[in-house]
Amino acid sequence: MKKQNVDALVNLAARRAIILPAFNIYGDIGGFYDYGPLGFRIKNNIVGEWRRTFIESLGNLEVETTLISPAVVFEASGHLKNFADPIITCKKCSKSHRADKLLEELYQKRNDLEKLSGIKKMDFKEMGAAVEAEKIKCDSCGDPLKAEVKSFNLMMGTKIGPTGDLQAYMRPETAQGIFMDFKAIHRTGGMKLPIAIGQIGKVFRNEISPRKILIRMREFTQMELEYFFDPSEKDFQINNRKPDMGKALGTKLNFLSSELQASGKAEYEHISLKECVTKGYIPNEFMAYMLSIEVGFLERLGFKQEDIRFRQIVKEELPHYSLGNIDVEARLDSGFEEIIGNAYRTDFDLKNHEKYSKGDMSIVNGEKKLVPHVVELSFGLDRIFWTLLANSLYMDDKRGWEVLDTNRVVAPYSYVVLPLQKDEKLETQALNISDQLTKKGITNYYSASGSIGKRYARADETGIPYAVTADYQTLEDGTVTVRDRATAEQTRKKISEIA
Ligand code: ATP
Ligand code: GLY
Repeated sequence: MKKQNVDALVNLAARRAIILPAFNIYGDIGGFYDYGPLGFRIKNNIVGEWRRTFIESLGNLEVETTLISPAVVFEASGHLKNFADPIITCKKCSKSHRADKLLEELYQKRNDLEKLSGIKKMDFKEMGAAVEAEKIKCDSCGDPLKAEVKSFNLMMGTKIGPTGDLQAYMRPETAQGIFMDFKAIHRTGGMKLPIAIGQIGKVFRNEISPRKILIRMREFTQMELEYFFDPSEKDFQINNRKPDMGKALGTKLNFLSSELQASGKAEYEHISLKECVTKGYIPNEFMAYMLSIEVGFLERLGFKQEDIRFRQIVKEELPHYSLGNIDVEARLDSGFEEIIGNAYRTDFDLKNHEKYSKGDMSIVNGEKKLVPHVVELSFGLDRIFWTLLANSLYMDDKRGWEVLDTNRVVAPYSYVVLPLQKDEKLETQALNISDQLTKKGITNYYSASGSIGKRYARADETGIPYAVTADYQTLEDGTVTVRDRATAEQTRKKISEIA
């Protein structure tokens, strides 16, 4: 089977209503997408695996905080001042572009890794000069872009109350709600650091140029985990258990250090987390431990090792709150895209909320009073969804159709249940089987329209791992055929054996 390109996924997503441009009947605004029935199920399955891995298995906590916060929250967090991207506006048609992304696209196309990594170190003046020198044109009117690069804040504002005089913002990350509630949650009792609080929810960013479908959206979902810990404590526990650090640090991954980026010599090297910590690529062992868990999570979703790399963020590119970031990136045709941001946020956020709220964010941990440090794991759910599907779509020339090779854990349904052909007896039997599977908690759907071949094709391209077919033998002996999407082979089984 041959891997398809992203255009094929765009096509499939539209054909099967997996993803739909929002409010499309009024025209496309860009950056807003709805999930159709199949997309929604796949997305929820990714959420389920995240929750199992990062909340349930680690004994962590989960909250839901508000989407809107008064401006003071983002003065404290630094977003009002710092959460901005470089904008360049076409002098002829006034279309806005994100200057760094224009250069990134160009150098990615040329496969110039050295220049690519150089973008992160440019100031706005250098960026403007590079856009002009490279003769990059406005994609709307074709005029060469020759303008000053300015700073554009990505926060979306709104007003609270009938007088409209309380300025507020839609959250650009879920994290701030967790920071503000941390002390109250800790106060509920008996907790010892490290404590992790997670949150899954919508965030909003007024992106200058939304692109690549789900990669750059203006409204999207994050799954974030904030780990509060004492940085002086070397021997940490997770959920009252000592983690197996030997095993975690022995995990090997594709890693792109800042040194390797500067040399422009390779996309990554395959090294152990231990080596990453020893060489100072990863700020601390605690973060390395969490990265080892991310490796397992991505594998279970179905990412192949060669499609994922971990990238050390160079100093100039670090967010305003971070002392060290490791991004996880997934491969697309156009190059690697960030899907997870891991940040060592230190006590930056808690201390700033302390300052702006004039409160006290310290807690007592054992005998010690401290403001904890934070390691953050920030997952972009939509980017994970999109890059996972992009890396799972194949063309099978033998079958003559596309196959979405998803793991069962993310597949929209485990089974499709089919009557072999139009016949009331077979249809009743198939519906019966579908009900039995549902009762056993096995996700499935019933499909009777179209030829059996067409229905297999539909199931294959939407990632359904198994097809159960009720035929005339089923009516006699209660057995069915079970077709495995991976091989397209069928075996005969008793209905009760389906799991
Ligand atoms: P980029 O540099 O690509 O703009 P970022 O560094 O701003 O991304 P973070 O602020 O670290 O991203 O956000 C955490 C995660 O949220 C990212 O790893 C990504 O998966 C997701 N994310 C960020 N911006 C968007 C967006 N506009 N659309 C979809 N997902 C996004
Ligand atoms: N919480 C990290 C980010 O959204 O940037």
